[in-house]
Amino acid sequence: MIRMSRRFNGIHSLGSSSENPVIVAGLNLALSYENAAIDRLEKRISKTVVPEVKEKLKHHLVNTKAQQDRLKQRIEAIGGFMQPTSEKGKLPIPEPPSILKTMIENNSSNAEREVWESLNDLIIERAEAIMYKGGIQALELLKADKKTIDTLKKNLKEEQSFGDWLERNNPKIAKRLMTKQVEQSKKRAKKNKRQENEQAILEASVA
Ligand SMILES: [Fe+2]
Repeated sequence: MIRMSRRFNGIHSLGSSSENPVIVAGLNLALSYENAAIDRLEKRISKTVVPEVKEKLKHHLVNTKAQQDRLKQRIEAIGGFMQPTSEKGKLPIPEPPSILKTMIENNSSNAEREVWESLNDLIIERAEAIMYKGGIQALELLKADKKTIDTLKKNLKEEQSFGDWLERNNPKIAKRLMTKQVEQSKKRAKKNKRQENEQAILEASVA
């Protein structure tokens, strides 16, 4: 919930004051996405089947908590009428039609789910980077203070770095997971065929 620290009297010189409510609202918007990102990262860390992804997600969780703190500090520092929000924004994860979503969720292997979610990881990081880029430009246009702009630049750098890692590594990890899955299903099919043949021979010898 956004708490009001003091009554907003509407007297703000838009475009120059660090107390411009639009600036604080923008920082709170970024904070609301980071609040949601923490939940998503924790969920992914518990579910991922790929050790190096787990490590990277853990590292990004630490970064995300630091991003939250930086945003909170700036919101508190530049005052205005808003306090740091604890609300969670909705992350931009593509939402398939419900029938397709159910079908995919009910029929996917762990490896397939991992590939699916790794794409969502990338979408989120790129969306966060776009948000920070837009935010930096807006803050510059609104003549916000340097410390606040630098905070967003630091957050942007971390989002870009994790996004770049995902972009480089997602295809390799997906290839590894799918190759293993295909090999396993071939082995299973071969084993089933052998058992069927053995059963047929057994039945023929009994008859
Ligand atoms: Fe992020």
